[in-house]
Amino acid sequence: MRGVLKMPVQIGAKAHPFSDPTGLLSDCHRRIEMFLGALEGVASVIDRPLTEETRAALESALRYFREAAPKHTADEEESLFPRMRQKRDPNVEAAIKRLESLEHDHLLAASLHAEMEELGQRYLEVGSLESISVDAFRKAIVSLVSIYKQHIRIEDDLVFPLAKQLLSAADKAAIADEMAARRKLASLSLWTVIRQKVSACPCSDDLQDSRLPTPRLREPVAPVQGHRS
Ligand SMILES: [Fe+2]
Ligand SMILES: [Fe+2]
Repeated sequence: MRGVLKMPVQIGAKAHPFSDPTGLLSDCHRRIEMFLGALEGVASVIDRPLTEETRAALESALRYFREAAPKHTADEEESLFPRMRQKRDPNVEAAIKRLESLEHDHLLAASLHAEMEELGQRYLEVGSLESISVDAFRKAIVSLVSIYKQHIRIEDDLVFPLAKQLLSAADKAAIADEMAARRKLASLSLWTVIRQKVSACPCSDDLQDSRLPTPRLREPVAPVQGHRS
């Protein structure tokens, strides 16, 4: 995949309401897919001298995965998954097995992101990379895309619909409040007001994100057969 790095604008992105925290987490997945697309675009030209366009795409994607994406992981691992585990529901047992593998994916993805951060920062600093680092960057993004594709599909099509059914309104409100707190927003009610100003998703923790170069959209992830509830 070689050629000009494309960064089209995301059109028509619509955020879920705060009464639907798993919907918000799915919104974050769309954001993750976009920034993975940006990193794939960078990987296709990373054997060439750095251009301003590539710099902008790489800086915004690295920043997203360094600062905002970990909050998404915490939303799931600290707020959502523990509440699901507390429910005495037979379907949860099967989902919990999936959750354990998802938490392993989070660790694996974190180490691949750390590798890409190091290589990407060097590329930004020096303006070029030696071939061994080019190969490492490309391998890391291929692995990340593969991990996220499967991971996001399980969460969007199995875990989140189940959570939506199982969790009480109080659970959902508590999750939304914890998500707000991670972004240093005072409360759900205040966050609801602030949301008017945030065009994308709450896993972006600054209000200027819409000004960043928007990488190309990836193809939507195909749903898992039989898992939609
Ligand atoms: Fe996850
Ligand atoms: Fe997720």
